[in-house]
Amino acid sequence: MSTTPSSQLVIVVDFGAQYGQLIARRVRDLHVYSEIVPCDITAEEVSELAPAAIILSGGPASVYAEDAPSIDPGIFELGIPVLGFCYGQQIMAVTLGGTVGHTEKGEYGAAPLTRRDEGTSLLYGETPVKQTVWMSHRDAVAEAPAGFTVTASTDVCPVASMECAERRLYATQFHPEVRHTPHGDQLLRNFLFGICGLEASWTMDSIIDDAVAAIREQVGSDRVILGLSGGVDSSVVAALCAKAIGKQLTCVFINHGLLRKNEPEEVEDVFTKQFDVDFVHVHAEDRYAALLADVVEPEQKRRIIGSQFWKEFFAVAEELAEGGRPVKYLAQGTIYPDIIESGARKTGGKASTIKSHHNLIPFPDGVHFDLIEPLDHFFKDEVRALGTALGLPDHIVHRQPFPGPGLAIRIIGTVTREKLEILKNADAIVREELDAYNVRVYEETGERNSERSVWQYFAVLPDVKSVGVMGDERTYAYPIILRAVESSDAMTADWAKLPYEVLARVSSRIVAEVPGVNRVAYDITSKPPATIEWE
Ligand code: XMP
Repeated sequence: MSTTPSSQLVIVVDFGAQYGQLIARRVRDLHVYSEIVPCDITAEEVSELAPAAIILSGGPASVYAEDAPSIDPGIFELGIPVLGFCYGQQIMAVTLGGTVGHTEKGEYGAAPLTRRDEGTSLLYGETPVKQTVWMSHRDAVAEAPAGFTVTASTDVCPVASMECAERRLYATQFHPEVRHTPHGDQLLRNFLFGICGLEASWTMDSIIDDAVAAIREQVGSDRVILGLSGGVDSSVVAALCAKAIGKQLTCVFINHGLLRKNEPEEVEDVFTKQFDVDFVHVHAEDRYAALLADVVEPEQKRRIIGSQFWKEFFAVAEELAEGGRPVKYLAQGTIYPDIIESGARKTGGKASTIKSHHNLIPFPDGVHFDLIEPLDHFFKDEVRALGTALGLPDHIVHRQPFPGPGLAIRIIGTVTREKLEILKNADAIVREELDAYNVRVYEETGERNSERSVWQYFAVLPDVKSVGVMGDERTYAYPIILRAVESSDAMTADWAKLPYEVLARVSSRIVAEVPGVNRVAYDITSKPPATIEWE
């Protein structure tokens, strides 16, 4: 499904993945809706999307390289304002008859820029004649196309920006989208609001209204089912659907017994007391315990847990159908980066084109659902903001990543009830202490994930025992391993340099409060070479 907002659209033509996402984020931060499209989009496709503005991103290629991405020249003839950054400026220049050359030494980092427009450029507006900008390029425009004026330069780069105000075509060699360009934000505002006449109307309220209307329109009087894990994405989908269709939504919470301490109760509490949906709590703890009884191998644990989840889930769908409430739609917490990364969408069109979903297994014979994916336009932190606006509690909105197979992959070796109990209790202490530490860091720095705060933290229970002494008695018990990492995307991570007093408190509390544990070790390995999880 698509929840395309009603406010006006800015498309970011992407010449190199990470650049486009950052620009779209900046535009959205200014309350203007923005989507990323691949650079092979045609003028006709752009015209169908009818954007109010087009931004051409940077990219790693050289415009004259053999396989360099190009742009459909017709895009510049549509009468839609265009702003190009870096590669975006170069491709605009060569497409419209200018030239690009190799500069001697390139230009990287902060560079002093001088305006050459004598105050006439609407893009620069009131910003100073001399300003600092962020450059990162080897090639640069040597000659602007006919009809363009050069509006700024640096020592290295004679055409640091150019424009043809009459056709509303603007471009900069530098990167206004990065924070290191102090006036970059103002330039973007000048383009969106001054030159394109957009309004900052893409706000949380309008987003929720649009999403709710889209869900209602798509679902009509049919029923929707959702696998609720307690994670951010599925919870926000549940809250949105609750607002849109109330009891036409059935939230299925499969309790595999592998969640953290108190989590099942917290999820049930929110979705029975706060939201008026049909909530089904499937107590599958015993079935999972039996299935996992002698399993040691991590991938086998994952397979068993994943396939049992769908068995439990489809059983609920079947029961609903038998009870005269057949389900037509399956709601999923797919978010925008999933879509961009899977390359599923070309022109901001329909999410129905998504085929291979990472958290969707093939339906069994005879089972079919249409997908409904209300978050398919949103980045992760927008999803969190949406959750807060919908009234979800902080412990859900700011929940750390937590693996689907849960604590089973944080218990090395076989999973038993005794080990689960130990791990849940130790993990609760880790979370309590490090939550408190993060709050202190947040108060001091104003950042949730600053250099000193921790991104993900948990306890691991290895399959060994060691000797200790408590009181006058010898003990032979499990150690707990503390894992706490700094990261931004889980692709790489470093172990958190926690203050000694925090480590000391976690250790002494676990040993004192969790029976069966007599030692605490801290994992001081980065990813790579290790992974964040132990299995
Ligand atoms: P690793 O251990 O690969 O973890 O460094 C990277 C991030 O992914 C989370 N993770 C999982 N999430 N299902 C999930 O939904 C899984 O099977 C799974 N394994 C790891 C992990 O917590 C970390 O944030």
